[in-house]
Amino acid sequence: MAIPPLIVAIDGPAASGKSTVAKRIASCLQIVFVSSGGMYRAFTWRVLEEGIDPADTKAVLEILKVTRFDCGEESGLGTFAVDGRFLTKEELSARSVNENVSTIAAIPEVRERLVAEQRAYGEANGVVMEGRDIGSVVFPNTPYKFYIDASPEVREQRRRAEGVTDSIAARDKTDSNRKASPLVIPEDAIVVDSSYMSVEEVVEKVISEISLRRE
Ligand code: DC
Repeated sequence: MAIPPLIVAIDGPAASGKSTVAKRIASCLQIVFVSSGGMYRAFTWRVLEEGIDPADTKAVLEILKVTRFDCGEESGLGTFAVDGRFLTKEELSARSVNENVSTIAAIPEVRERLVAEQRAYGEANGVVMEGRDIGSVVFPNTPYKFYIDASPEVREQRRRAEGVTDSIAARDKTDSNRKASPLVIPEDAIVVDSSYMSVEEVVEKVISEISLRRE
């Protein structure tokens, strides 16, 4: 029987450090890293570029219908083009995108479309994917689920150190309280509080838990 692809789900609130950790783990395991938040950000950018109000769900769904998504991979990183356009880091973390991504990500039809793309990544060759609903909705059957947390103060500090002005508290509130796939800690996830841990310590902890479960 073929060995199923390795799927590692990493969830957590904004600026918990999960993205940095997930990237390193993917590189250690030699599988692709995907930021699912980047996918929601890319579609949000597209909506804003069209001059659509993100709160106008009907208009957002019209544009969703005609938008083409292309998932790929480059040097171990998942790439995501929207209507053939690859967005820069600056575009994906623009203030307007930060402010509106939670509204767009709360729309069930948007999630349905992007979750299908996310599953295709994992089923192809395995993946380390980070987000908010990876262990709870996208890959509920994987035994490798992690929830990376950090205190609100530490998360605000980390964002400021990156030079990003972003209302983390507001985004967390929308992400946790929405009806469609809210941010939750999956029952079977291993919770790592990274507030006072270095990136290396978190990576080590996650890799050792994966090894234990693979034995
Ligand atoms: O991880 P991030 O900050 O790039 O995520 C951007 C937004 O996308 C976040 O506010 C919530 C949303 N998101 C989501 O709803 N589900 C995911 N799996 C990943 C991100």
